[in-house]
Amino acid sequence: MKAIDVIVVGELNVDLILNQIGTFPEVGKEILAQQMTLTLGSSSAIFASNLSSLGAKVAFIGKIGQDPFGEVVLQSLQAKGVDTSLIIQSADLHTGATVVLNFDEDRAMVTHPGAMNALCLADISPEHLSRAKHLHFSSYFLQPGLQKEITDLFRLAKALGLTTSFDTQWDPQEKWDLDLAQILPYVDVFLPNEKELFKLTRTNSLTEAIAVLPENTRTVLVKMGNKGSVSWCDGKLLPMEPFLNEDVVDAIGAGDSFNAGFIYKYIQGASVEECQRFGNLTGAVSTTAAGGTTAFTDYNKVKKIAQEKFGYAL
Ligand SMILES: Nc1ncnc2c1ncn2[C@@H]1O[C@H](COP(=O)(O)OP(=O)(O)O)[C@@H](O)[C@H]1O
Ligand SMILES: [Mg+2]
Repeated sequence: MKAIDVIVVGELNVDLILNQIGTFPEVGKEILAQQMTLTLGSSSAIFASNLSSLGAKVAFIGKIGQDPFGEVVLQSLQAKGVDTSLIIQSADLHTGATVVLNFDEDRAMVTHPGAMNALCLADISPEHLSRAKHLHFSSYFLQPGLQKEITDLFRLAKALGLTTSFDTQWDPQEKWDLDLAQILPYVDVFLPNEKELFKLTRTNSLTEAIAVLPENTRTVLVKMGNKGSVSWCDGKLLPMEPFLNEDVVDAIGAGDSFNAGFIYKYIQGASVEECQRFGNLTGAVSTTAAGGTTAFTDYNKVKKIAQEKFGYAL
């Protein structure tokens, strides 16, 4: 028996969200926001929190500073039952933070990556990895310290007998400089959204994209927003309708919640189709509440939303 189901390697930061701002800020002037929230940000953390709420044993490896924002990160993850004992707190680094200015449907964001730039392979010991059944890595383009060594991390995990999953997320620099041919042979489940897959493969359609993936690619899950998802496995393309939510609160963390649902079933040995259906469900559940983790406060809340809103018995 492994002590940990899923070990998440990824970026950590807080979001300082400012709402009800009158006008757009101007250099040299001060304006007021009538409402403010400080929450756990980052895709990897949303994935870890929601997977833990579903009932998996989750541990996190990431880097933060020894500062108040670092405490917010630790407390938020711990409140969801995530094991934070492998998170590295460095005295000479700042915890990453994003300031979000919300203007109706739109938003402006400024991020200080801080400690998330500094995580590297030397921070991840084989002993720690071997305590888990599965490795999930997310947000490749936000973690320069790991980029050169990412294939080594996946290769190590496979050599230690773990199953693996990978979500690149968006490249803020839009260079999409990632050698899929090198990495994907060590990835059991690749989880891009449709736009990211096209950018990464330099194609414009699903069939073209699948055709240029390395031959030994295992399972690919393409997330398609309110169109649901498409899986590709054993040469078979399977489109699946979403659990459509007609009144979306926001789509923050829908992809990470999809990943959490998919991997929750995957580590139990479920079929790709079953995992995909559950991913579609948890992605949809995420869109029923503000932010990426609100709908996943605890298992009972997820169960209630799944039943009442989407007719799915958990
Ligand atoms: N409006 C919606 N109604 C129901 N499900 C949705 C909706 N938007 C997203 N989802 C579900 O969440 C999953 C992930 O969302 P998506 O926006 O594609 O990911 P990402 O956040 O990575 O861009 C989708 O595959 C779908 O199953
Ligand atoms: Mg995503």
